[in-house]
Amino acid sequence: MEIEFSDKFIRALKNAKRVVVSTGAGVSAESGVSTFRGEDGLWKKFKPEELATYEAFEKNPKLVWEWYQHRRDIINKIKPNPGHYAIVEMARYFKRFHLVTQNVDDLHREAGSNDIIELHGNIKRNRCINCGTLNYEVEFEQIPPRCVCGGKLRPDVIWFGELLPLEALERAEDASKTCDLFFVIGTSGVVQPAASFPIIATRQGAFVVEINIEPTELTFVANEHFHGKSGEILPLIVDKIKTIKEKI
Ligand code: OAD
Repeated sequence: MEIEFSDKFIRALKNAKRVVVSTGAGVSAESGVSTFRGEDGLWKKFKPEELATYEAFEKNPKLVWEWYQHRRDIINKIKPNPGHYAIVEMARYFKRFHLVTQNVDDLHREAGSNDIIELHGNIKRNRCINCGTLNYEVEFEQIPPRCVCGGKLRPDVIWFGELLPLEALERAEDASKTCDLFFVIGTSGVVQPAASFPIIATRQGAFVVEINIEPTELTFVANEHFHGKSGEILPLIVDKIKTIKEKI
């Protein structure tokens, strides 16, 4: 695959010092993680209100825990793809770089990205609803499993109707307001507040680049839209960056 990059895109890459990369489920699709919407999306097969709400957890903790353990089993077997690795490499060429993700699959960290702003939590982590302690190991002696304090443990992901972690939200907003180049990759752009970040960035004058296999709700804000798979397009963009920028 080859891409003829436009002059405006190359200029934006050359001039950029403060970059935000914002990712959604599409970035992990080539690793074998299901997206949420679209034909084979998880929310086509399952009802979010039965699996991904606090009410569902209270009503049927066994079902909720089984579903998350099933997703964990899938995620534990898969590996990052070239898109994840390209983002790790990209970070080395810009003075300031923020990676914001809606994904809970931990694949960015596994690929080598650090300081990831996780908007929707992390499926590998658990949180006590009583004392807030985070941990990665669960003993299923009872359902829901319990923290040492006796409180119920839940997966540390954001469920429908819940607020995002404040620190992650503030960092993502701040990075979006002050960046000069914003990549929005593999998200349908329908879930707030993540969908508002490229709009915030464009209002502040940032150059917005979208990578997706189809047009989305956010295509209208993009200065450049790359139509295709992130695992194929991102490595080509990073190859281009290497020819025009020095490592920081
Ligand atoms: P969606 O499933 O809504 O959207 C996935 C997007 O990825 C779509 O626009 C696809 O066209 C695109 N896509 C698929 N494969 C791709 C590929 N190989 N390369 C590039 N793009 C590709 O997923 P999100 O937008 O991430 O929330 O969904 C946002 C949130 O909704 C999720 O974080 C989740 C869900 O409810 C929580 O769990 C809180």
